[in-house]
Amino acid sequence: AIKGFVFDLDGVITDTSIFHSQAWHQVADKVGVKWDDDLADALKGISRMDSLNLILARDHKEDAFSDAEKAALATEKNDNYLKLVNQMTPANILPGIQVFLDDLKAQGYLLSLASASKNSPLVLKHLGLGDYFTKSVDPASLKHGKPDPEIFRRGAEILDLDPAQCIGVEDAAAGVQSINGAGETSIGIGDPKVLAAADINFTDTTQLTLANIEKAMTDATL
Ligand code: G6P
Ligand code: MG
Repeated sequence: AIKGFVFDLDGVITDTSIFHSQAWHQVADKVGVKWDDDLADALKGISRMDSLNLILARDHKEDAFSDAEKAALATEKNDNYLKLVNQMTPANILPGIQVFLDDLKAQGYLLSLASASKNSPLVLKHLGLGDYFTKSVDPASLKHGKPDPEIFRRGAEILDLDPAQCIGVEDAAAGVQSINGAGETSIGIGDPKVLAAADINFTDTTQLTLANIEKAMTDATL
């Protein structure tokens, strides 16, 4: 039986995936790489440096910058991002999430966070959700980022649960792949075409309820 939920943060609990995109878009403009929705989707769930390398590779520019220049571009992106994060309040929690988290806690489910973001403690603080996620995987401790299963496997481990006892919740294709690889049940939030690999798909966070999950698991005989 399911005993725990391992959550992605950006794009699942809060609307920061838009802020990450805006901040990267500014950097892409600066280095002359064309921005589009596919690129924005490909960056979801991907670590800061991997994201920069993906942007540069779009235009075969990965060798056009030194490591120091790349570090400066990554810092610039993070500065752009932090300006947006520092204006955040609990109003930036996505619709339905607060109720869902309270419901999970009331029903005795364990919660952990599996975010690739080094800014996740700060984001949780702005949202007022620090107390809900006392167990988080530290992305700095990972050998491999999403889509590798490591982060979601660790998300179960820190709850002392088997992956099979956990549901992972993600908005990114790379994240769904990580959940599936870890052996957890995957919920994808967003475009079903992008998240086709998810066991369960909800188009937005308002559908994320225990009743809907139980129904979807019965229908799919999970
Ligand atoms: C999340 C976001 C990505 C972001 C990554 C690293 O996975 O979905 O867009 O690049 O975290 O975030 P950071 O805040 O450490 O740059
Ligand atoms: Mg995400």
